[in-house]
Amino acid sequence: MKIAVFSTKPYDQEYFERHNKNADFEFTYFETTLNSRTANLTAGFDVVCVFVNDQVDEDTIKKMVDHGVRLIALRCAGYNNVDIESAKRNQLKVVRVPAYSPEAVAEHAVALLLTLNRKTHKAYNRVREGNFSLNNLIGFNLHGKTVGVIGTGRIGATFCRIIKGFGCKIIAFDKYPADELIHLGVVYLPLTEVFQQADILSLHCPLNPDTKHLINAHTLSLMKEGVMIINTSRGALINTADIIEGLAEQKVGYLGIDVYEQEENLFFKDLSESIIPDDLIVRLIGFPNVLITSHQAYFTKEAMREITITTLENIEDFGKGIALKNEIV
Ligand code: NAI
Repeated sequence: MKIAVFSTKPYDQEYFERHNKNADFEFTYFETTLNSRTANLTAGFDVVCVFVNDQVDEDTIKKMVDHGVRLIALRCAGYNNVDIESAKRNQLKVVRVPAYSPEAVAEHAVALLLTLNRKTHKAYNRVREGNFSLNNLIGFNLHGKTVGVIGTGRIGATFCRIIKGFGCKIIAFDKYPADELIHLGVVYLPLTEVFQQADILSLHCPLNPDTKHLINAHTLSLMKEGVMIINTSRGALINTADIIEGLAEQKVGYLGIDVYEQEENLFFKDLSESIIPDDLIVRLIGFPNVLITSHQAYFTKEAMREITITTLENIEDFGKGIALKNEIV
């Protein structure tokens, strides 16, 4: 089976080569992202393997189908970048890796939260330059603070369990409250009340038409002065222009993001010698209370192993013609 892997970095190739045991799999690695302009590269492949910033829209899907592609294998959990309805109409199957390591993402959300609060990234740089002063490094105790969690699925629930250990009060919003979390002491509230009461807000819901720009000028106006917002889910949950306004007005006290609305032009690339082609991210980077990582929350050894093994199994099941347990239907 011929498999085209898009958006590959050396570590993706390394993990596929390490874990693949199927001699019939023939991989071709493309560094470029998949979109309607690069879709012609899929000619001659049975399977196309994509990641978070590949744009698998209707146009791309039609070209892939014309080229004989029969399966899209996402090597990630979120699938907001694939036009699922179009894939269905075109009889193209789509599989994903629904759960690989919720701990990887939840732990990164906590890392963003702690770094923003205790400013260890600034202390690191200061001490390296012989500056041992504490001016402006003051943080706050997490103990006793109210943490709001939007979306308590696999990652949100793991985040709740970690945060519980800090002695925080946890409030949450999800259409499907989890009994296990209620037993842990998590209090489910209407979304508006979570916005109103949280000192720290962490986003763990998927991106879909309901959640696009969940954080906007109106919802920001409901929040506490100086709120901390953490987003490790998908960039478009936050309206970037509105959050910049919120930061400028000091309504938002801290922002930690691992995802960004226009990240496909930036993330996973070394642009250190380029002019950054995005004024909004340059503005965000300029705030002293904003911490940005480039979609690395998933990036642990354990998660990479799980992602790779599940992706290979998904493709293998497809090859055998058996039921696809991770199909998006
Ligand atoms: P999940 O499917 O286990 O949980 C999502 C939860 O969100 C569910 O409980 C669902 O009921 C809830 N939800 C849906 N719509 C909602 C709404 N309108 N308001 C509040 N809650 C809502 O998904 P999981 O595994 O926890 O992943 C969450 C998201 O994290 C993914 O959709 C993906 O976008 C993101 N992610 C980010 C990664 C990174 O590296 N930064 C890696 C993996 C996932």
